Amino acid sequence: MALGRRGSVLVGLMVTLCALAASPVFSSPEEKFVRKTVSSHEIVIFSKSYCPYCRRAKAVFKELSKVPYVVELDQREDGGDIQHALSTIVGRRTVPQVFINGKHLGGSDDTVEAYENGSLAKLLGADSRDSDL
Ligand SMILES: *[C@@H]1O[C@H](CO)[C@@H](O)[C@H](O)[C@H]1NC(C)=O
Repeated sequence: MALGRRGSVLVGLMVTLCALAASPVFSSPEEKFVRKTVSSHEIVIFSKSYCPYCRRAKAVFKELSKVPYVVELDQREDGGDIQHALSTIVGRRTVPQVFINGKHLGGSDDTVEAYENGSLAKLLGADSRDSDL
């Protein structure tokens, strides 16, 4: 059954290659930048300075008296590459993309909704009106 054995070696090789491709070792510098940025700040917004939905997302944090770390993609040389890396991580190419404590929250609509239903305040550990205590 030489053929079968060779086949399974081939499958094993392919599985290994796929695992390598998905590992951080092969991620782009921009992807590393995104992961590092979202893990080093409580609130991160990937934004474009002129985009109204980004302004809306920023306003939400102003309401919560929180200062987000904002990456303005239109004001950086590598903004396009970062946006591409971001899209491979979150599966969307639109801005804004908001991260809380390293976790992807979503875009502007998701942020506003999470603000309105109280889950955002909870994520930020902010004093919420309907606290359990
Ligand atoms: C609040 O909204 C966010 C964002 O859409 C959603 O993920 C979350 O499940 C909602 N939570 C509640 C308690 O409705």
